[in-house]
Amino acid sequence: MTESWSPDTWRQKPIEQVPQYPDAKALRAVEDRLRRYPPLVFAGEARRLMVALGDVAEGRAFLLQGGDCAESFAEFHPNNIRDTFRVMLQMAVVLTFGAACPVVKLGRMAGQFAKPRSEPFETRDGVRLPSYRGDMVNGMEFTPEARMPDPERLVQAFNQSAAMLNLLRAFAQGGYADLHKVHQWTLGFVADSPLGERYRDLANRLSETLDFMAACGLTSETTPQIRETDFFTSHEALLLEFEEAMTRVDSTTGRWYDTSAHLLWVGDRTRRIDGAHVEFLRGIGNPVGLKAGPGMTPHDLLRLIDILNPDNVPGRLTVVARMGVDKVRSHLPPLVRAVKAEGRKVVWACDPMHGNTFKSESGFKTRHFDRILEEVRLFFQVHEAEGSHAGGVHFEMTGQDVTECMGGAQAISDENLSARYHTHCDPRLNAKQALELAFLLAEELKEARARAHNGGLAKAS
Ligand code: PEP
Ligand code: CO
Repeated sequence: MTESWSPDTWRQKPIEQVPQYPDAKALRAVEDRLRRYPPLVFAGEARRLMVALGDVAEGRAFLLQGGDCAESFAEFHPNNIRDTFRVMLQMAVVLTFGAACPVVKLGRMAGQFAKPRSEPFETRDGVRLPSYRGDMVNGMEFTPEARMPDPERLVQAFNQSAAMLNLLRAFAQGGYADLHKVHQWTLGFVADSPLGERYRDLANRLSETLDFMAACGLTSETTPQIRETDFFTSHEALLLEFEEAMTRVDSTTGRWYDTSAHLLWVGDRTRRIDGAHVEFLRGIGNPVGLKAGPGMTPHDLLRLIDILNPDNVPGRLTVVARMGVDKVRSHLPPLVRAVKAEGRKVVWACDPMHGNTFKSESGFKTRHFDRILEEVRLFFQVHEAEGSHAGGVHFEMTGQDVTECMGGAQAISDENLSARYHTHCDPRLNAKQALELAFLLAEELKEARARAHNGGLAKAS
């Protein structure tokens, strides 16, 4: 029999990655305040995302998840929100064309403030201080004051998330997401890109399609699907005090929902089967995610699926594989096979970022565009070979013109990294690199569709 669950049962389980707050009473007081704050999302929206992800699990839609590695208080600005939202929409349109199916847009936004760290302390010139764990916990500056975890930061994270969600909803529903506008921005990108020639064909076909639709009377005025879009939010459920305070009973279904985001995921470092983070996620009604690195075994994955999706609901669980380009071919197939053999319904997504991080010669933590692209390609290939659906992609990216990842058409080199390296944690694709990746993946998806179609025809004849 399953043990009973409530939003605080995680407190009886072993937990990793916890900040050491100096004043437990102050933390409690903040939790009590947060418990009275309004929910950031509705349970009904989370259910809608679950249905959309159910389509992804069944191969009828594609998932695009992206945003900052760590959102920051300092980068909180309407232009930054707008630019990341915009590039995600552009990517989604390009991918929709390639995959010929709807693309579910899920931001690592409006709540992605807490980071797991490999070391609890950082030492510089003989001085040892707690590691930076994200703006929701402490400050990045290397001083004892900044590095001390402060519960007031939970309130600031809530407020920033609320303001950001408000703007994202306005953009999604208020006309900013109009397909024609999104396409015009993309045409601008294609015209400017050194590799624009490569993307022009797809962009032109998209233009023709939109003209054709308009000629048939399908315009922004007549068709809400052209004018508006759905945009969902997600983050790693790392700070369980915060997530618990945001977890409420949904009056429609009587179920508990974590109202801090539509989807919550458990990270590769905190996914132990008997641990607090898995315990928390198992009881909420939201769709949930599970990061799977090269250390994940088929046996553990199946046990985690049993716990996180016991009723085998398509769309409830997204497994985000982050193997690294050198390991994906050896480590992913056994997992995909086990899930398929046991008939488990999951969304398979590829995070080609976290297994491909390295230190550049000049000392920057970076990632290379080619390796990111290659990991996604291999992920698609593995799924095709195993007869499973490659459901989507998960990127760390920003709408800003940063220089954090190397390569791409801009050919960012090690010497360029210092120009605009702003991330608070891991290196992100910039807007051009992200959109370029979408174009290249759209080509892959289109070819895969053609192969599937030809295979089907061959079988039929
Ligand atoms: C992340 O998504 O930023 C992260 C820390 O990932 P992972 O848990 O896969 O290492
Ligand atoms: Co990261």
